[in-house]
Amino acid sequence: MRALSYYGPGQKAWETVADPEITHDLDAVIRVDTVTICGTDLHILKGDVPEVTSGRILGHEAVGTVVETGRGVGSIHIGDRVLVSCITSCGRCRFCREGRYGQCLGGGGWILGHTIDGTQAEYVRVPFAENSTYPVPVGVTDDELLMLSDILPTGYEVGVRNGGVQPGDVVVVIGAGPVGLAAIMGARLFSPSHIVAIDLADARLEAAKQFGADVVVSDGRQDPATVIASLTGGLGADVTIEAVGEPATFELAVRLARPGGRIANVGVHGQPATLHLEDQWARDITITTGLVDTNSTPTLLRLLAGRQIEAARFVTHHFALEEFAEAYDVFGRAAETGALKVVLSRRS
Ligand SMILES: NC(=O)c1ccc[n+]([C@@H]2O[C@H](COP(=O)([O-])OP(=O)(O)OC[C@H]3O[C@@H](n4cnc5c(N)ncnc54)[C@H](O)[C@@H]3O)[C@@H](O)[C@H]2O)c1
Ligand SMILES: [Zn+2]
Ligand SMILES: [Zn+2]
Repeated sequence: MRALSYYGPGQKAWETVADPEITHDLDAVIRVDTVTICGTDLHILKGDVPEVTSGRILGHEAVGTVVETGRGVGSIHIGDRVLVSCITSCGRCRFCREGRYGQCLGGGGWILGHTIDGTQAEYVRVPFAENSTYPVPVGVTDDELLMLSDILPTGYEVGVRNGGVQPGDVVVVIGAGPVGLAAIMGARLFSPSHIVAIDLADARLEAAKQFGADVVVSDGRQDPATVIASLTGGLGADVTIEAVGEPATFELAVRLARPGGRIANVGVHGQPATLHLEDQWARDITITTGLVDTNSTPTLLRLLAGRQIEAARFVTHHFALEEFAEAYDVFGRAAETGALKVVLSRRS
């Protein structure tokens, strides 16, 4: 088959590789019908995620068709169409039993396109397939559903839920990439009084407005602290959500929160970030971090089927599966291309 392999920082190739095979009874092999690229894939290509070794097939988001199942797989069958979650779950370990699938101790967690070969390929082996996929609901398109592999659960769980967004809150989202926009979409479900989006790129700020941000701040041209102070009587935001993954934006997220406020870090960080306890120790703040668990996927599927979230809004560009080089280029230059999520589809 053909697949997108990683060969160290800045190096990748769309190439012919061996087809995946069932190696455990709970595996399934899925034909990838629709797949996308994540901001985390860009972090991997920058060298920020050193566990990803040379030759690894990237990608942790897909919608596909089951083509083979291990002997222990009973609830999904050949021909079934499924959403592949970015998080794999053994379903048995202590953390999976708590719904904390991201921390799976039984061989799951974020493994696709990380420690095992991923979805940016014609076929992918999905371990613990019954727990790690969801049937495609009736009336939902692949494009929409694909946004539930990673970005919508991530924005909702690690941003909105960890941040404890409440009705009436002032919520600041730093970074209006797909994950930040997913956090904006998720925050709206809780009726905040204001959502403020901060980004460097005008295209991303425009997208943030479309997704429901009430105020947008161009970091660099405007001072975010002044904008937030004027909205909150000088107190600061109830919740700040960091969706970039840089030391400066984490420090900004901490600075913009009010006393007693909540700071939800979503960004993947490759460098140390400073927590200024000399300024913060007495401010009663709560900081959360997290890898997405995808335990909100059933809720998000119901919201999607009930048309309470508009997941199709994320998709700005379409490519054929063999056009990965172009798709990465367009996604990697999002400030110029206006890309949010780029979708690659198998030609039927
Ligand atoms: N915690 C998790 O489980 C999880 C899951 C998925 C993604 N992520 C991470 O979430 C982050 C966002 O993902 P994405 O796909 O939206 O990435 P992205 O790269 O598309 O978006 C990041 C945005 O941040 C903006 N930005 C950069 N520097 C800035 C600054 N100084 N001030 C304001 N904005 C700035 C960029 O213009 C861009 O719009 C990434 O770090 C990604 O790795 C985390
Ligand atoms: Zn991702
Ligand atoms: Zn587990």
